[in-house]
Amino acid sequence: MDFQYIRVYRYEADPRVGAVQLNRPDKLNALSLPLMDELITALEAFDAEPDVRCMVLHGNERAFAAGADIDEMAQADSVEMLLRDQFRKWERIAALKKPLIAAVSGYALGGGCELAMLCDMIVASDTAQFGQPEINIGVMPGAGGTQRLTRTLGKALAMELVLTGRFLSAQEAYRLGLVNRVVPVEIYLQEAFALASTIASKPPIAVRLAKEAVLKALSTPLEIGLEFERKNFYLLFSTEDQKEGMQAFQQKRPPQWRGR
Ligand code: COA
Repeated sequence: MDFQYIRVYRYEADPRVGAVQLNRPDKLNALSLPLMDELITALEAFDAEPDVRCMVLHGNERAFAAGADIDEMAQADSVEMLLRDQFRKWERIAALKKPLIAAVSGYALGGGCELAMLCDMIVASDTAQFGQPEINIGVMPGAGGTQRLTRTLGKALAMELVLTGRFLSAQEAYRLGLVNRVVPVEIYLQEAFALASTIASKPPIAVRLAKEAVLKALSTPLEIGLEFERKNFYLLFSTEDQKEGMQAFQQKRPPQWRGR
C-alpha cells in the first residue's frame, strides 16, 4: 500500500515485528486527518496479518508527534468538529488485538501524548517530553488525555498537567509509571524493537488474551475483571500452545509455538 505520511516496514532482525514510522517531520508529525487514516489502516493491516506478532510505532528523534494538526482545527466550529468526530476512530488503535509499543523520542504532546497512551507500552528516549498543552491554545485534550493520564498518574498530577500544560521529562514519566523504560536516544528504537521481539517470541493466542485481560482492568470493576481473566485463562487450555508449553517445561526443552 502507498502511504504519504507514514512509513510501514518490518523489523529487519525479526520480521514478526511490524513497524510504523510517523513521517511528517517538517510538522513535527502533527497528526492530521489523512495521517491518522493511514496510521489506522496500517496498524489494522498488521493486526490482521498472521505472521505479525507485535507492532512498534515511532516518530523521529525530534518528535514522536506534537499533537493533532492545529491548522486543520483552527477555523472549525463545534458542529464541524462534532460531525468530523475525528478522535472516535483513534479508539480503533486501542482495540488492536496485538501488542503495540510506542517508541517515543522528543515531543509527545497533546494528541501525540494521547496516541502514545493508546499504545500498550512506551519505550522512551531520554529526550522524550510528554504533555497536554492544549490549554495554551484555548482548548483541552480530546483524544483520551484527561481519562488515560488520570488513570495512570492519578488526579492531582493529571489535573496539573492538563491545566498548566507543563511537560513531563522522560525520567519523570518513568518514575510515574507512564513509560516502561528510558534509554539513551541513540538506542531507544533498538530497545523498543527488542521488547517487541521478546513479545513476538511468546505464544500468540496467550499474548492476545492476556493483553485483553490487562486492558479490562482499566474499564471494569475488579470482580468483572477477575471473571474475565479466569475465562481467558481457561480458554487457553484448548490451545495447542498450552499443551506444548507445559509439556516442554516438563521435558526440559524449549517450546515450539504454533499459534493455535
Ligand atoms: N499542528 C500543526 N502544526 C504543528 C503542530 C501541530 N500540533 N506542532 C508543530 N507544528 C508545526 C509548526 O507550525 C511548524 O511548522 P512551520 O515550519 O510550517 O511553521 C513546524 O511544525 C515546527 O514547529 P515549531 O513550532 O517551529 O518548532 P519549535 O521547536 O519552535 O516548537 C513545539 C516545538 C512542539 C513546542 C511547538 O511546535 C508547539 O507548541 N506545538 C504545538 C503543541 C500543541 O499545542 N499540541 C496540541 C495540539 S491540540
